[in-house]
Amino acid sequence: MLADEERIQRIIEHHEREAEDESKREIGEDPLYDGIAWSSIEPFLPKQGRILDAGGGAGVWSVRLAEKSECSIVLFDIAHRLLTTATTRLKALKLSGRVDVLIADIRVIPHLGDSFDFVLCEGDPIAICGDSEKAVSELSRVLKPNGYLAAGLDSTIFRAFKALTSGASLDDVIELLRTGRSPAEDGALFESKSFTPTEFASLAKKHGLEMVRVAGRPIGFGSEMLDVFVSAIPIDLRREIFRENERPRLLNFLRQVYEEPYLAAVGSHLLVVAKKVAWDGK
Ligand SMILES: C[S@@+](CC[C@H](N)C(=O)[O-])C[C@H]1O[C@@H](n2cnc3c(N)ncnc32)[C@H](O)[C@@H]1O
Repeated sequence: MLADEERIQRIIEHHEREAEDESKREIGEDPLYDGIAWSSIEPFLPKQGRILDAGGGAGVWSVRLAEKSECSIVLFDIAHRLLTTATTRLKALKLSGRVDVLIADIRVIPHLGDSFDFVLCEGDPIAICGDSEKAVSELSRVLKPNGYLAAGLDSTIFRAFKALTSGASLDDVIELLRTGRSPAEDGALFESKSFTPTEFASLAKKHGLEMVRVAGRPIGFGSEMLDVFVSAIPIDLRREIFRENERPRLLNFLRQVYEEPYLAAVGSHLLVVAKKVAWDGK
């Protein structure tokens, strides 16, 4: 296992390499992945108050939150270059006055308890930060009672499916299902943790959060995407669907499937929403 400092350095380097691409990314480019996230987030957003965008990277979600609410927003991340990209983006959109950008670690959030009306932690910061439990505990601590946390996570069930399709041994797949841990190898620079919805619900509960919604979010909507439903369509038909005007209909079908909570875990990613019901500070 990597020492914490080296691991953090690798996370920063990995994400900072994406700063250039991230500066051009906009919410909605992946209509399935982003669309399901937004339809899970929007109903729980406060009209006014303070929002935290934890591990918010280049600020794509902070922009969306600033545009769609009257809230003030705090965006933090550990990757300095991404925050510079976020600052430039916010300035260009004349949103700098609405979003405070700072460097911070999700495992030691520098804010007082009960500071935010809504917390977003999208794109796996909980999974990759090295201590998911500490991250969830901190996110819960800074959330006000009755506020909502929306978090993007990797799905263990999908990882197990992917491992099976790439010929992993049954022992390895069963171990993956048990721990949700994928080691820093096979091209990955750092270990990451995935979740089943049940596992996340029980971690959240331990920290005073009650899970109120879960949806699946396959990534990379397109004919080559690795998804149980899309890859089940014969390849010629699949290409035809994506070439023709059938694309929106497939998109709607998949949205309906993955917004069904009992199927969520089949998607590569999850979007979970949990309400703060109690927190005893331990
Ligand atoms: C895939 S990116 C997602 C960024 C953004 N939330 C989004 O959805 O576009 C994951 C982010 O988590 C950040 N991150 C990883 N570990 C972190 C930590 N310990 N504290 C704060 N941010 C962290 C990374 O720097 C990166 O920006």
